[in-house]
Amino acid sequence: MALRPADRPGIPLFVIPRSFIQDLLSRVDIVDVVDRHVKLKRAGANYVACCPFHNEKTPSFTVSATKQFYHCFGCGAHGTAVGFLMEYSGLGFVDAIKELAQAVGMTVPEVAPEPAAQRKAEAGDDLYGVLLKAAHYYRAQLKEAPRAIDYLKRRGLSGDIAKRFGIGYAPDGWQNLQAVFPDYGAKALAAAGLVKVNEDNRRYDIFRDRIMFPIVDVRGNVIGFGGRVLGAGEPKYLNTPETPVFEKGRELYGLYQARAAIRKAGRVVVVEGYMDVVALAQHGVEYAVATLGTATTALHVSKLMRQADEVVFCFDGDEAGVRAAWRALEQSLPQLADGKQVRFLFLPKGEDPDTYVRKAGAAGFEALLIGAPTLSRFMLDELSRRVDLSTAEGRAGLVHQAKPLLKPMPGNALRVQIVRELAALARMAPEEVERLCELTPMVAKRPSPARTPRVAPAPLATRLLRLLMANPVLAAAISDEQRVMLEKDNDFVSVARLILLLRESGATSLGAAFEATRDSEHAELYATVAGETLHASGADEAAARADLESAFARLEEGRLRSELAHLSTRQMPTEAERSRFQEVRRRLAELGGGGAVNVRSQI
Ligand code: CTP
Ligand code: MN
Repeated sequence: MALRPADRPGIPLFVIPRSFIQDLLSRVDIVDVVDRHVKLKRAGANYVACCPFHNEKTPSFTVSATKQFYHCFGCGAHGTAVGFLMEYSGLGFVDAIKELAQAVGMTVPEVAPEPAAQRKAEAGDDLYGVLLKAAHYYRAQLKEAPRAIDYLKRRGLSGDIAKRFGIGYAPDGWQNLQAVFPDYGAKALAAAGLVKVNEDNRRYDIFRDRIMFPIVDVRGNVIGFGGRVLGAGEPKYLNTPETPVFEKGRELYGLYQARAAIRKAGRVVVVEGYMDVVALAQHGVEYAVATLGTATTALHVSKLMRQADEVVFCFDGDEAGVRAAWRALEQSLPQLADGKQVRFLFLPKGEDPDTYVRKAGAAGFEALLIGAPTLSRFMLDELSRRVDLSTAEGRAGLVHQAKPLLKPMPGNALRVQIVRELAALARMAPEEVERLCELTPMVAKRPSPARTPRVAPAPLATRLLRLLMANPVLAAAISDEQRVMLEKDNDFVSVARLILLLRESGATSLGAAFEATRDSEHAELYATVAGETLHASGADEAAARADLESAFARLEEGRLRSELAHLSTRQMPTEAERSRFQEVRRRLAELGGGGAVNVRSQI
């Protein structure tokens, strides 16, 4: 049985070897796993059901047994058996793995952490290992620090909640971490953002005499820390700088602990501070997360929307709060699918969620949430406030200001509603507003923008990614020479990385490939491609192999063609250039399949 979040330690105490995960995925059948929760019906090669992740009447949720992957054509949700359990049951990664393993009679090796990882942590080249070790150290130090315990108690926190969030204490002193990391000079300590080097090349701990909040990613890895002074002092919070494993704009503090509660409530609240998240959880509002001292990003929004249908952004009621809320609104608009709801809660002056929930309790805070204005209300009120609606100029200005907000919205029912209200305020016909704002007509279905990559790769790169995700065994057929060639080209870096990941993992299905790429810097791109792959009918391996070859041929052809173009601009070519010119032409002719240089479409 899976652990309930309250029983779960704030920080996982062991690491699951990748090889185990691949082994597990080769024995689990996603069809069984999903069918246990959502009744599936056979439809040709796949299985279908009404999507459990959004409201629908006709089934667009598809599960493929051959690909070991699910995908909803309505809302875009997709993933493997592991991902399904995480999304459906609100389990953490580790718990999802445990549940799957149990169903097929496998035992998760709880080597804590893996000996190799432990050694790596000690040698200092594994940032996750280093950060996890530091987190355990800070937690142990809290027990020895009555002053710090006192501070947390005064702020109303129980020992249980401190444990759940892994809260610790960094003692005063410049080189305390030396006690935990004998190799205090190791690069990883600085790379992980724990140690700094001064001008005299002396090293010292960044966090001293501070309450430590570990920042944990959704898989349970410690990726950074926020450290608060006890009482007054500057800066109040010190955060891990951006490191290879920690990027502020991607992470949400508390999401790991909040997942199950978010799923259950169908709602996630976004607050500004570490203490707000912890205090809310202490009082029973367990579905809160915080941005890490940064403005809301599009990535934050897409993560949030994947967790729940209702997202409530909570800000101070002052001018800065409204500005921050507006920014969150701008990031949300392009991702507002029907069925999703975004609200904005502005707290009374001088309050933050921590102080408010302490006074009013969970019920009081939740009453505010329920009454919070919707995104459309906030948007229309704020826009109206900025212009004088009693004049023609003001009403025209209203539409003008609305244009950049409406344009990126999906053409859905919510946009229609907003346009209507806006039209009424501007005393225009809705069609006039649509025309002035250059809105594309309503479309029945379009892929959720939340799931499209931020930078679209070149079409050929996408084709290669799709081929490889759907047929991961093909990664072995690609030569190192080909891979290096890809690596050198910006458009194909993600392809080159994928080839490596697939080879290392030995993945044989789309699902296994998807799991193998979870931690990659291109994870989101791979996930998108994996989702799209399900649209394609399952071509056999031989066809895929031929496709791969032709993709490489096209790639080479593109390259040769630009080389040829370059060579032919030379006024006085050298002998070497002349013979290269001939060679390139010959090779191009070969690729064209006939004697003539067959110019195919540009890549
Ligand atoms: N923050 C930060 N650096 C600072 C101040 C704030 O990174 N010097 C971030 C932290 O993530 C903090 C959030 O902004 O949690 C909100 O800051 P603030 O409202 O000042 O603090 P509170 O969360 O209210 O903290 P506390 O209740 O502990 O005073
Ligand atoms: Mn506060």
